[in-house]
Amino acid sequence: MITIKQILDQKGRECYSVNSSINVLNALEIMAEKHIGILLVRNDLGNPVGMFSERDFVRKSVTFKETALSRCIEEFMSHSLFGIGIDKTIQDAMEIISEKHIRHLLVCENKNVAGIISITDIINTLIREQNATIKSLNDYIYGTTYW
Ligand SMILES: NC(=O)c1ccc[n+]([C@@H]2O[C@H](COP(=O)([O-])OP(=O)(O)OC[C@H]3O[C@@H](n4cnc5c(N)ncnc54)[C@H](O)[C@@H]3O)[C@@H](O)[C@H]2O)c1
Repeated sequence: MITIKQILDQKGRECYSVNSSINVLNALEIMAEKHIGILLVRNDLGNPVGMFSERDFVRKSVTFKETALSRCIEEFMSHSLFGIGIDKTIQDAMEIISEKHIRHLLVCENKNVAGIISITDIINTLIREQNATIKSLNDYIYGTTYW
């Protein structure tokens, strides 16, 4: 079974985070620059206190309207943090994501954030795994690969 560590080895361990005091526009600029849909939010001590996602922005903007961009992300972020241990499996990750209706999971190692994975990372890993299985079966049956 594929482990979360194997997914991180493929995609890297970077987990972009911001301080909870920055404003929404600054957070969106970072997300646009890094091509990511979510940021880990940390307090002044560097401890994780929430997540700020594209969806948080969309939902809360309806409330705050034209003042949304200048507001602090603390007013927009979700306070729930969903994580998974680095030694858990891809199946475990899919179960949490499905059960909690979320798209990202923080990866934890020795009580620290070791990275972040999204639904896309999981799908890409499964596609690679399936292609490798098909190739090895093809090699076994025909003694060669046809693509
Ligand atoms: N059409 C739509 O409605 C819609 C909605 C959501 C996402 N998308 C698109 O789907 C694609 C993938 O979306 P996704 O759900 O996988 O999420 P995502 O866009 O947040 O993830 C993209 C990649 O960035 C990484 N990433 C995300 N946040 C990170 C962070 N804080 N630090 C380090 N790495 C981080 C993820 O692990 C993943 O590898 C994107 O191209 C996105 O634009 C489309």
